[in-house]
Amino acid sequence: MEEMKTRLTSDLAQAASLDELEKIRVAYLGKKGSITNLSRSVDFGKLSPEERKDFGRRFNEIKLWAEEALAQASARLQAAGASQAAGAVDLTLPGARRSLGSLHPITLVQMELEQIFQGMSFIIGTGFHVEREYYNFDALNIPGDHPAREMQDTFWLTNGMLMRTHTSANQVRMLEKHGAPLRAIFPGRCFRYENVDASHENTFYQLEGLMVDKGISIAHLIGVMKALLDQVFHQDVKVRLRPGYFPFVEPGFELDCQCLICGGDGCKTCKHSGWIELLPCGMVHPRVLKFGGVDPMRYSGFAFGLGLTRLAMMKYGIPEIRLMNSGDVRFLSQFPAAV
Ligand code: DAH
Repeated sequence: MEEMKTRLTSDLAQAASLDELEKIRVAYLGKKGSITNLSRSVDFGKLSPEERKDFGRRFNEIKLWAEEALAQASARLQAAGASQAAGAVDLTLPGARRSLGSLHPITLVQMELEQIFQGMSFIIGTGFHVEREYYNFDALNIPGDHPAREMQDTFWLTNGMLMRTHTSANQVRMLEKHGAPLRAIFPGRCFRYENVDASHENTFYQLEGLMVDKGISIAHLIGVMKALLDQVFHQDVKVRLRPGYFPFVEPGFELDCQCLICGGDGCKTCKHSGWIELLPCGMVHPRVLKFGGVDPMRYSGFAFGLGLTRLAMMKYGIPEIRLMNSGDVRFLSQFPAAV
């Protein structure tokens, strides 16, 4: 009973409205309230007449006490309401707690990657969401009849421009602007005409990277990618390359990393292969360099397109892509306010 008193006292102190007060009354004194229930929790048959009397006395006492405490709380709230209505300020009321915002998981991963690449002397670019067909496709050696150009993949605008389908659209812009040698990353939002489900979104984030210099080889590509993954996952990550086709790189690869969940033994996450497909990349196609005004006879380079949304999901164990654009505060508030 004493414990009940303590609890009720603290509940009442926190009640901020008459509605809340009524809920508290029901919780304690209602038909199934915890004070009401006290009398049901006792097996009277087992008590001596003395003990029975004692219980009855104390039970009535706490009930009366509770009713009185509720009445007082109600008076307090009504008075506060009345004085507020009259424009007064009750300085004894607890202050409104200011809630701190948090960073979106994609922002967190992006900031972390930017730091890692800045440590390797890469500059950071942005590009445009609304892009010219030329930069999104032609300048990337994606010919007019390539399947990626079909309507189901691309949001076309009525003025002939499009919503960029990948951050690769910024490759030739970066080459035009900065020339060679170049080390750059350009993270950003991409758009595809997709049906949304647990793992597909029409709006998602990629982080593209480009390194062009004299004598850049696949060894540089692997070295930089491995340095990146080791730092993101804070461990020595094993990687492998498989051939992959992308019109703007030659040769093109899919870079896999050994499954971080099972360490390569095989599990559900890696579909029992021990490897996770993480990062498409390749050596920049000479035609792309040429489109960017860089002489492919003197320079070579590598490029990669990291799925930021996917990486954030892996890193934080987020099972459902739709949460990312939901704006749901219950989801967002689980992430820290700084890296
Ligand atoms: N842009 C490609 C996509 O969105 C990904 C990609 C592949 C980017 C290979 C690259 C690359 O830079 O070298 O599917």
